[in-house]
Amino acid sequence: MSTDLVEQAKKSAAYKAVDENFPESAKVVGIGSGSTVIYVAERLGQLRNKSGFVCIPTGFQSKQLIIDNGLSLGSIEQYSNIDIAFDGADEVDTDLNLIKGGGACLFQEKLVAIASKQFIVVADYRKRSPSKLGIQWTKGVPIEIVPNSYAKITNDLYDLGAKKVILRQGGSSKAGPVVTDNNNFLIDADFGEIADPVKLHTQIKLLVGVVETGLFTDITTKAYFGEENGQVGVLT
Ligand code: 5RP
Repeated sequence: MSTDLVEQAKKSAAYKAVDENFPESAKVVGIGSGSTVIYVAERLGQLRNKSGFVCIPTGFQSKQLIIDNGLSLGSIEQYSNIDIAFDGADEVDTDLNLIKGGGACLFQEKLVAIASKQFIVVADYRKRSPSKLGIQWTKGVPIEIVPNSYAKITNDLYDLGAKKVILRQGGSSKAGPVVTDNNNFLIDADFGEIADPVKLHTQIKLLVGVVETGLFTDITTKAYFGEENGQVGVLT
């Protein structure tokens, strides 16, 4: 698989998503995290009216993206009604359910997504599941947790049917668990193919110590996929 092809697919999806969806009237725009959203910020930075809207980041990386592309930076505390948000995904199923959190930003990503009137996903062709979640993305569902609950939650996730549960390691210091922007830990729980993501999300969310899950259900408006052949597919 050529890196250039994947990179081009990300860029095509992001540019098309912005070109087809960004409303002239938008005043507040959510910016997700990851390597595909880089191209969303780049495209927004090319707009003539780029000083006419404020961008809400979903983490440290997206804050930097906003600044680097000359966009105006706001915060979710200041603007809790967002006109449109763009974000990447680790996997998208045919019903527009997502797995997110591969980049450890899932809590703020979900906060921004649910505050947005439109939530547009941008991804390359590797992220598109032919049916359910858990087929393309096999590293498990990312789950943000309060640190001292990890042992109990690990047991609980096995009880819920997880095949493999891992406390994500390799934070900025590379030793020890990843620490999120909210000073929490992340668990990756592999449930195989996920038949009912709403039910699984609800079951996990009820465990004491769980802050949020990377299952995004009933949130996405549209998904743009950069394809291997250079085209862009849209799922609505
Ligand atoms: C971070 C995310 C990212 O949006 C997701 O991992 C996709 O990233 P990329 O565009 O690099 O494939 O959920 O928490």
